Amino acid sequence: MPRSNVYSKRRQKLLNLIGGGIAILRGAPEQIRTNDTEYPYRQDSDFFYLTGYTEPGAACIINPNNKDKPFTLFVLPQDPKKEVWTGWRLSFEDTVDQYGADQAQDIAEFETAALEAMKTAAKVYTNLNHDKVHQYKMLDLVGQVRKQVQRTGGGPEGLESVGSLTHGMRLIKDEHELNLMQKAADISTAAHSKAMQACSPGMYEYQLQAILESHFVHEGSAGPAYSSIVGAGDNATVLHYIKNRDQIVDGDMILIDAAAEYDMYAADITRTFPANGKFSEAQSAIYQVVLTAQKAVIEASKPGVTFQELHDMDLRLLVEGMIAIGLLDGTVDEVIENQSYEEYFMHKTGHWLGLDVHDMGNYMADGESIVLKPGMVFTVEPGIYVNSQSKAPEKFRGIGIRIEDDILITETGNKNLTAAVPKEITDIEALMSRD
Ligand code: GLY
Ligand code: MN
Ligand code: MN
Repeated sequence: MPRSNVYSKRRQKLLNLIGGGIAILRGAPEQIRTNDTEYPYRQDSDFFYLTGYTEPGAACIINPNNKDKPFTLFVLPQDPKKEVWTGWRLSFEDTVDQYGADQAQDIAEFETAALEAMKTAAKVYTNLNHDKVHQYKMLDLVGQVRKQVQRTGGGPEGLESVGSLTHGMRLIKDEHELNLMQKAADISTAAHSKAMQACSPGMYEYQLQAILESHFVHEGSAGPAYSSIVGAGDNATVLHYIKNRDQIVDGDMILIDAAAEYDMYAADITRTFPANGKFSEAQSAIYQVVLTAQKAVIEASKPGVTFQELHDMDLRLLVEGMIAIGLLDGTVDEVIENQSYEEYFMHKTGHWLGLDVHDMGNYMADGESIVLKPGMVFTVEPGIYVNSQSKAPEKFRGIGIRIEDDILITETGNKNLTAAVPKEITDIEALMSRD
């Protein structure tokens, strides 16, 4: 099956949901890094999900009112002088062939075409994301249409988020997506094992980052799915520590939260291990609390369970464990009630995973937590973070631990996509052993 069929099936689904509306999407804008130099280009996830198109400068209109040609892709036209700098561009004919479009046009014609298409649409769905220029332009176009249809009637009253249609679709991964996600996971698990094995006191955090990211790229990934976190000692207690500049000291625990993006799909893995390959008593006490909670939550992940139930279970197990090892005082109910656990566990148990590392899709619907269904993929990532300024018993200070795996809900339970990196204490110690 040609790859473009994957996207045309999704567009067909969208057309079934869209009623008398149309979808007008803009690809992600390029982002300047310094002066006139851009960051590597990454397509907008919703745009990619519906078109498969990964080049900059594009837009599309999906218009059920245009019966013969519901899908128009707008792209940068061929321009030999520019292509010398940024690479070859497909002709409009080849764009039609390769992306299964009904027609391809010059991006310069996009706004006029959008305005025209809007006039007969009951609703206009667009991607409302961080591209404010696109959003203002779309609002401006709706305003223009309103003036034009004032005496004739019809036309949209405002803008709708295309996410209200696509994000529900993206929550359930199809087979094509699951293959790519497993590949992203496989590249990432191997990279974690490599970094764990290579680690020794005296190295720098960025050297572990280099091992991970070199493996990602070597295996065909575009690079990290998010900024790699490699935190040694107290740095492991900073949730989004991405500086990765410090030297690793004997006795540190190292937290690595890093994973590859493969063909636009993210993995998201965290492992925490001792720099010298041997857990101390205090390190293993906290580690075992996190691991017990993580394994129990994964075990409980199956169709019919709600996302909130998993978080509640995780929180209760972490609190039980923290009380047992002397990190928190009180009963489990008291600690949950007074939220004193938030000093050491301050984030949620997990998030949806897919094209975006924090993937789109609601966690609540009609005031209720989402019920897990086959095809959903999410992370399970409990953690305990005791920073050096904490009033906790001294032996626990400067230890941050998170363990994170990527879980696919199946018909009968779940599949851990990232199970290949060791997380049992004995397995980590064996992998890191120099013997
Ligand atoms: N790596 C980001 C997260 O775990 O949510
Ligand atoms: Mn995560
Ligand atoms: Mn993560």
